[in-house]
Amino acid sequence: MFPQAEVTAVDGAPELLARATQRAKRLGVRLRTQVAEFPEGLTDLGPAELVWSGQVVHHVGDQQGALNQLVGLLGPGGVLAIVEGGLPTRLLPRDLGFGRPALQARLDVAMADRFSQMRAELPGSVAVVEDWPSMLRAAGLNEVRSKTFLVDHPAPLAEVPRQWVRRSLERQRAMLGERMDAEDVTTLDRLLDPTDPAGVDRRADLFLLTAKTVYFGRRSDH
Ligand SMILES: C[S@@+](CC[C@H](N)C(=O)[O-])C[C@H]1O[C@@H](n2cnc3c(N)ncnc32)[C@H](O)[C@@H]1O
Repeated sequence: MFPQAEVTAVDGAPELLARATQRAKRLGVRLRTQVAEFPEGLTDLGPAELVWSGQVVHHVGDQQGALNQLVGLLGPGGVLAIVEGGLPTRLLPRDLGFGRPALQARLDVAMADRFSQMRAELPGSVAVVEDWPSMLRAAGLNEVRSKTFLVDHPAPLAEVPRQWVRRSLERQRAMLGERMDAEDVTTLDRLLDPTDPAGVDRRADLFLLTAKTVYFGRRSDH
């Protein structure tokens, strides 16, 4: 959208920044990168016209403090956009033909519990009502709005989204195995078995449906 823009990519993981560098070269984007473990390491950044934070604020103990800090990087009239919330991803039919139906609903609950535990264990964790528009206003932004983007890959899935589904279920199997009952773990193992015709590598009814929400607001000039 902004071919003249100078972009600084910031993340705690150097591997991710290396991927961003490769992609920027391919797309002709002028990019520099900076490794920073939020909330430290941002002091030499800014002022920026646009700060975009993709699913990072929820990894910081004090989410309102993080938003305040990101707003501090904006020049007058600058915009902060954060990707948070949205909808859980849907990948599988309710009834897979084996196992107990509605596996995804139970994965969502296990994921939500794990997420709450992850937040509670973060250094300096602060409980807050996760009303993102109010939090952006409290950080000093005006004209706060949101827009939600549908991600819709219908069945049958092409190879790339199919691989994404596999990796996503592998991650959930590793993270949530202890929170799921034995029958659901067996179902997940069958889905991940590359030799099983009903597994994710071979079944024709996989899809990828989700929605990503971006909340954004402008720093007033006054
Ligand atoms: C869900 S991923 C999102 C990745 C990417 N921003 C995107 O929108 O696709 C969360 C990212 O937050 C980064 N992250 C988590 N905690 C962080 C922290 N305290 N400081 C900097 N980066 C952090 C992780 O390294 C990871 O890349």
